[in-house]
Parts: sequence; C-alpha cells; structure tokens
Amino acid sequence: MGKRSRKPRGNRPDRGGGGSQKGVQTPPRGVWIVNGYSADWLGKGFPWVYPQEILGRGAPADIVELRAQDGRVLGRAIPDHGWIAARVYRHDEGPLDRDWLWETLDRAAALRDVVIEPDTTAFRLVHGENDGLPGLRIDWWDHAATVVLDSPAVAPLLDDVLDWLEDRRQPRAVYLCYRPDPRDDRDFSRVTPEPGLVRGHALTADLRVTERGAAFLVRPWDGPDVGLYTDMRAVRRWLEPHWGGTAVLNTFAYTGAFSVVAALGGASEVVTVDLSAPYLERAEANFVANELDPSQHTFWEEDTFKALDRMRRQGQQFDRIILDPPSFSHSSDGTTWSAARDYPRLVAAAFRVCAPGGWIIAASNHGQTSPRDFRGWIVDGARKAGVRAQELAWLGQSEDVPAATWFPEGRYLKVGVWRMLPG
Ligand SMILES: C[S@@+](CC[C@H](N)C(=O)[O-])C[C@H]1O[C@@H](n2cnc3c(N)ncnc32)[C@H](O)[C@@H]1O
Repeated sequence: MGKRSRKPRGNRPDRGGGGSQKGVQTPPRGVWIVNGYSADWLGKGFPWVYPQEILGRGAPADIVELRAQDGRVLGRAIPDHGWIAARVYRHDEGPLDRDWLWETLDRAAALRDVVIEPDTTAFRLVHGENDGLPGLRIDWWDHAATVVLDSPAVAPLLDDVLDWLEDRRQPRAVYLCYRPDPRDDRDFSRVTPEPGLVRGHALTADLRVTERGAAFLVRPWDGPDVGLYTDMRAVRRWLEPHWGGTAVLNTFAYTGAFSVVAALGGASEVVTVDLSAPYLERAEANFVANELDPSQHTFWEEDTFKALDRMRRQGQQFDRIILDPPSFSHSSDGTTWSAARDYPRLVAAAFRVCAPGGWIIAASNHGQTSPRDFRGWIVDGARKAGVRAQELAWLGQSEDVPAATWFPEGRYLKVGVWRMLPG
C-alpha cells in the first residue's frame, strides 16, 4: 500500500441521519453509498469509512451495508458518530453473527499460540483492525483480560466476545475500558456499557505476569495502560544479550520494564527516570517482584531533559540509554513536550551523556510519524550534539501486535538502536 496512514477524502463531513448528497438517490434502510476513494480503499480491505466519504445513507440500522455508486456491495459495517463513520468487519455480504465473530477471534488467538514465547503470560490476544476486528483489542494478563474498545459503537460485539473469552480461556476477571482517539471529540466519561469488571470476580491486588521469565505487576482494571506495554517485548528481546556489565539510563520509564530486564540481564547500574512518582514506585515493586534489590539502583522522579542536563554537568555517562517518550506531555512546571518539536533536542541531550561506543535506543509510537521523519530526528540530534553514530537495528512492535497489510496505521511503533562512535 505504501502509505503510512489514510486520510479521508470527500466533499463535506456527513454526520449521520438519513439522506444523500446531491445527485445520489436515498438508499434503502441500512445501506450507505460511499465515494470512489473510499470504495477503492474498502476494496483493499481498509476497515474504516470517514464521514465525508458517505454520499448517501438509508434509514439508520445497527449494521450497515456499504455500497459503491455502481451498486457493488463493499462490506458490512457498524456505524459510529465520531471521527470514524463506520468500522468495517466484513468485505463481503456475509453476516456479522456469532459464528463469524468466534471464527475471527479463533484466528487471532491461533497467531498468539505460535508466537508467544515460553514464560510469557502477558500479550495482546486481539489487535483490532489488524486482526479483522476494528475498534476491539483484548490484552491477556496471565488469567485475566482487558477488553479495550475504541468507541461504545463497538459494544454490540461485546457479549459474544466475552462468551468467547470464557469458552476459550476461562479468565478469572475481565475488565472493559475505552481508548478514545484524540480525534474523537465526544465525552467518554458517560459511555455505556460502563467501563469496569464485566465478567468474573474483581481482582484484589496487582497481578503478576511474566514476559520471557521476567515478572511484572499489572492492574488490568486500569486499562488501557495497565503497567506493561507488551508491544515492546520484541525490543526487550533484541536487547537481552546486550545488557551485561553496562550502565543503563531508562528515561520516560513508566513502570520500569526496560530497567527490570536490564538489571536481570546483568547491567552494572540502572538509572530509571520518570515524571511520575506512582509509576516509579511501581518500577521499584517490579524490581522486588524479580528479587532485584531496588536500593542497588537509582530512581529519579524528574523531567527527562532536566535529568539529562544534570547528568551531563556531573559528567555521568551511560552505555545504554532508552528514550521512549510519549507523543505529547505536560510537566507540573508548565513545560510541554511534543515529540515532533523536541525529539532532536532529546537525542542530542542523550548523546551528551552517552559513553563512547554506547547505544541509544529510541522509540516513537506515534502512528502519524513516518519512519523517515523519525530517523531524521535522530540524525538531527546527533548533528546537534556533534557526534557520529551508526544504526545497529531497526525494530518494531512484537508479533502479537501485528500490522495488517490493509491498514497503513497498523505499523505505528518505530524503534531504532544507534551506537555512538568515539571521537
Ligand atoms: C510511553 S510511556 C513509556 C513506556 C516505557 N518505556 C515502557 O516500555 O514501559 C511514557 C512515560 O513518560 C513519562 N513522562 C512523560 N513526560 C515526561 C518527562 N518530561 N520526563 C520524564 N518522564 C516523562 C510518563 O509518566 C510515562 O510514564
């Protein structure tokens, strides 16, 4: 497909109701006519229709049939009222029934049966659009699950999804949560069904999961960010042989997953930096869960830029530096971080505390940033710091977080490893 994301193309946003644009007859109940651009993309398997691409809508229905202007059936979709007008679940005329849903869920689960490594009990079981189930994710946490919906519009699938989970995996608790897209301007605080426990018994304590033998404590009721980003497992796996004897700086560390695997892998020193004290407490708890002594390591509640600046002034150097910032954030002192604006400055600051021959592991999970732009930020940062570096590896999301060929947005995670050359 060659594109990173598909932008909508059409005349004007059509926010719903029946009716048609000029020159298009009002279609029958439950039928929507889409423009040629959308029809082309639907033909490639793209799973969304944007509001401005709809030329005509028949009377409202729970499931709509999408048609091209020439009458060709393009698929079956569940309508929504947000920045996406409909999520497309089938690209043929078949029904969106329980058999179809369970078959699709089984196909998703079959991938995880093959790719999840031994001693790994935390992974993504269903990855939305990329598993043919737009707007629906399921994360598995040892014996519990978090079901994540992008919109309440997806909820009609929920009961059958929960039945499938119970039948196939017997979770002891299933929590529902929402993951609103910043482009959606509706109020997610009063959605139905309400987020929270939807099957089983409430968990009463942090749940211990494992990733390649390392233990992590997660809170499935806190979805979608429960304490471990499993999409980074492939990066941690790649780094596994490369920690021994190194001084590691983990910035934007969240609950310290990289710090834990570095310490387990024999790093001589691990420094963990995050703005959030509660996350750092959880990082320390993750050390303890692995029988690592947190007092042997350092945890800084600090802005990463300030920490890097202080470390530079103190002449500290590190062999492995992890940079995994959010796309945007605000510090309590009012400073804002924007990856698009600040990443090169971050990379430069990191190179200034990098030991000769040391590595910078830099990540961006911003879907709208292309690999080319991201690499450009690293190149700019190295130039700013006046250093030369080599790209050692180009990594992405783990296999349980697949990117579908029909969905350019699916390949969102970009991670590179750069080695700083001496002199
Ligand atoms: C994307 S998460 C990092 C995930 C982590 N690398 C992992 O794999 O588990 C972003 C983290 O950055 C932290 N953060 C945001 N702005 C920050 C800043 N200016 N300085 C330090 N940490 C920051 C947030 O508190 C959050 O824990």
